[in-house]
Amino acid sequence: MTNKVTFYDTTMRDGEQTIGVNFSVEEKIAIAKGLDDYGVSAIEAGFPAASQKDFEAVKSIAEVVNKAKVVGLARLVRNDINAVIEATKGAKHPMIHVFIATSPIHREFKLHLTKEEILDKIKADVAFTKQYIQDIVFSPEDATRTEPDFLVASVQTAIDAGATMINIPDTVGYDTPEEYGEVFENLRRNIVGFDTVGWSTHTHNDLGMATANALAGIAHGATEIQGTINGIGERAGNVDMIEAAAAIYVRHEKFNVETDIVLSHSKAISDIVARATQMPVASNKPIMGRNAFAHESGIHQDGYLKNPETYEILKPGMVGATASLPLGKLSGSHAVMSKLNSLGYDVTRDDMKNIFPIFKSVAEESNLVTNEQLKIIMQVVEEKEMV
Ligand code: KIV
Ligand code: ZN
Repeated sequence: MTNKVTFYDTTMRDGEQTIGVNFSVEEKIAIAKGLDDYGVSAIEAGFPAASQKDFEAVKSIAEVVNKAKVVGLARLVRNDINAVIEATKGAKHPMIHVFIATSPIHREFKLHLTKEEILDKIKADVAFTKQYIQDIVFSPEDATRTEPDFLVASVQTAIDAGATMINIPDTVGYDTPEEYGEVFENLRRNIVGFDTVGWSTHTHNDLGMATANALAGIAHGATEIQGTINGIGERAGNVDMIEAAAAIYVRHEKFNVETDIVLSHSKAISDIVARATQMPVASNKPIMGRNAFAHESGIHQDGYLKNPETYEILKPGMVGATASLPLGKLSGSHAVMSKLNSLGYDVTRDDMKNIFPIFKSVAEESNLVTNEQLKIIMQVVEEKEMV
């Protein structure tokens, strides 16, 4: 049987923790509509108790989103919880995300709470929340640096008090994929009623392992990926949901799971977020980077022209992108001929014997050879032939 993996978006909460990012309510509404079309199961729209603007944003989004759950973040603090209850009450599917840190360093230096006090808070505040909202995500913050037995105790307490989804944050992007997978295995072995709740991954990219870790979580029992569009977020960011969704699609034989993500909307939602954050996607970023489907060297271009699958593991159209064969000093005659043909020049392999050396000399001095330069090259060739 094929299992379903859902995507929970936190672009407007964890993503907004990116330095310099401050979405307007209008930008948040546009992002939320784009996410709903993209097929995410939940949209974490903000942290209502943190500011009036966040409260308003969550409230407005709750009113316009049709399919996805609308979520607000809250610490295990009554004021935070009440703010989420109020802000999400207009939503078709309201949800709350409550969290408390469980690792020794957070307990000792940030919270000044003992293990017992933390368990008491989880029990009391999750049970309090349950009276008002049915769908509750619980996160033990810094889960991956928490003692495994205390993590089990915290999560079990949250489930027993009414949490419906358990999120496992690798808050500081510390774990390797093997370690992160083992966190889920340990929970699977020890939690009573593991299958009665959903399990989500929440991975940060401090060591560049966010996508690998999210996928390791899926391979070890997680049913949902929490992430952001374009991987924005605190410090080095969160897992990029577009990357994770594309990886699950390309390697479906490995993961054997289905998603509701409409991959062809990837470019549209990536562009909306890039504009609102004023953070263009890096050219070499997987899937959405400008170079992700560009082939420059002669060997690659020749292979690509013979069969795109020689160098393409995903058809760019699947994610709303387009392939390109930019012409530079490493390009070969085949790609130059193909480009000239597409520009309307009826040139053959034989003609290329005259054209290619001129192209090469131009390319040696340019970063990329433009269509305008190609037209000039063809004028030079035609003039030579007339002499
Ligand atoms: O990274 C993290 O721990 C968080 C929590 C609030 C879930 O974003
Ligand atoms: Zn986070």
